[in-house]
Amino acid sequence: MNYNSDTIKIDGDVFEILLDEETIDKRVNELGEQLSSDYNGRLPIFIGVLNGSVIFFADLIRNISIDCEVDFLKLSSYGDAKISSGKVTLLKDLNCQIESRDIVIVEDIVDTGLSIDYMKKLIGQHNPQSVKVVTLLHKAEATKYDVQLDYVGFKIPNKFVIGYGLDRSQKYRNLKSIYALTNGK
Ligand code: IMP
Repeated sequence: MNYNSDTIKIDGDVFEILLDEETIDKRVNELGEQLSSDYNGRLPIFIGVLNGSVIFFADLIRNISIDCEVDFLKLSSYGDAKISSGKVTLLKDLNCQIESRDIVIVEDIVDTGLSIDYMKKLIGQHNPQSVKVVTLLHKAEATKYDVQLDYVGFKIPNKFVIGYGLDRSQKYRNLKSIYALTNGK
């Protein structure tokens, strides 16, 4: 497989570039500036959702120009399936105190909205001052849960995507651009 090509073939499936490095970089920079301005004078905790958000998370917080703290949550993933199982379990809890704190959940992608809905409820139980969500990608057509997404990088079609942290069967997270499956969802 050629990691620098605009088209990638994996087991008979064809993925085409959806968002290139430059486009992602520019938007992540804008999101960082917006968050820095909105949280100016506060000390937010950015909570990354493992594993998918690691690349976005690392790039985003380097575009934050105010003091902040970080922590991570891990939820069960799709596993090897392309379609959500409809169930979420917590694999790694937070290590910090979030009571009375300003929390920003950092997600790679919101699909059905189930994971974000679960995390907002989980975090809400600990009486934070505020909880907001930033997601790099939003599959708006696929979202079934009524969750507020405060900062969205890109609205994308309801297609399976890989790269920039997003996987297929745990692989391809290391692609620098984001690629969408052309034949199917
Ligand atoms: P949701 O709970 O249905 O909103 O799905 C959220 C999670 O599903 C994300 O954090 C990803 O781990 C995974 N996911 C959803 N869509 C995709 C995709 O197109 N590619 C890779 N992972 C995805």
